[in-house]
Amino acid sequence: MSIISVSNLTKTYASGFTALKNINLDIQRGEIFALLGPNGAGKTTLISVICGLAVQTEGTVTVGGFDISKNYREARSLIGLVPQELHTDAWESPFATATFSRGLFGKPKNSAHIEKVLRELSLWDKKNSQIITLSGGMKRRVMIAKALAHEPQILFLDEPTAGVDVELRKAMWDVVRGLRDAGVTIILTTHYIEEAEEMADRVGVINKGEIVLIEDKKKLMQKLGKKQLKLHLQNKLTSIPSSLAAHHLELSQEGDELVYTYDTKGDRTGITSLMNDLTAAGITFNDLNTTQSSLEEIFVSLVHQS
Ligand SMILES: Nc1ncnc2c1ncn2[C@@H]1O[C@H](COP(=O)(O)OP(=O)(O)OP(=O)(O)O)[C@@H](O)[C@H]1O
Ligand SMILES: [Mg+2]
Repeated sequence: MSIISVSNLTKTYASGFTALKNINLDIQRGEIFALLGPNGAGKTTLISVICGLAVQTEGTVTVGGFDISKNYREARSLIGLVPQELHTDAWESPFATATFSRGLFGKPKNSAHIEKVLRELSLWDKKNSQIITLSGGMKRRVMIAKALAHEPQILFLDEPTAGVDVELRKAMWDVVRGLRDAGVTIILTTHYIEEAEEMADRVGVINKGEIVLIEDKKKLMQKLGKKQLKLHLQNKLTSIPSSLAAHHLELSQEGDELVYTYDTKGDRTGITSLMNDLTAAGITFNDLNTTQSSLEEIFVSLVHQS
């Protein structure tokens, strides 16, 4: 059963701007779901509605079976949120901030849990430092500690690694994977396609308030495993010779380019036999290149289509 269920969700702001249009999305318990989309696509708005910080105009959202409108407290208590904008209490310590946040959810004090979270995030030696004295990356981890203080089953990370250096980004990926292994369901937004490739079990793309793709990451990567070899022909063809039928080539509209698609993960690419058959057919070419579709390309094409 899905832990979050969003159906027919629309959000129109008081300004009259519709930021979310008929969103349908189910998040499975225990998965890492990456939500991709350009600036202004509606990612933060979607998270805000699910977390009850913004009210939907139409549609329903349930979290752990609780309707976020009718059973707000129950729904919200299952969620930890690390917002896009960092706002920490500069003069407080990580330990005090996390402890306070736990209290806000009405949970009894539990220093052992706060310690566990701070240790997991490599913040234990900074537990009593004023947050203002920490680095940007540490502050981000304090926000995660704060979000995890009340033992939520779901963690939202809105751009968790924006402006974070490569090394720290990788360390944060490890933290997120560790949380998932401990049973936390994770929804993250990112502008780094690589982050989604690296982390996500499923990927969703949102553009102009609409979900334009939801796909299993592995399936998406299998599609990405396909490469194309383009041969620029010396002499134009009007059709593909029948002796080459087995290679399932495509001929460009102008007839000056043959395209061969192959699987990089297969045992054989078939390129050698293609070359032999081309020679036998008397087809010569003056240039060639290969291209590989990446998640980035898929993303860019999806976002530009609509
Ligand atoms: N309070 C608000 N009132 C009116 N419009 C808003 C409000 N908050 C956001 N919007 C608009 O809704 C759209 C979606 O904004 P949102 O913050 O959800 O985008 P996002 O996908 O998170 O973008 P980014 O990648 O820049 O964080 C934008 O056009 C934004 O201007
Ligand atoms: Mg945002």
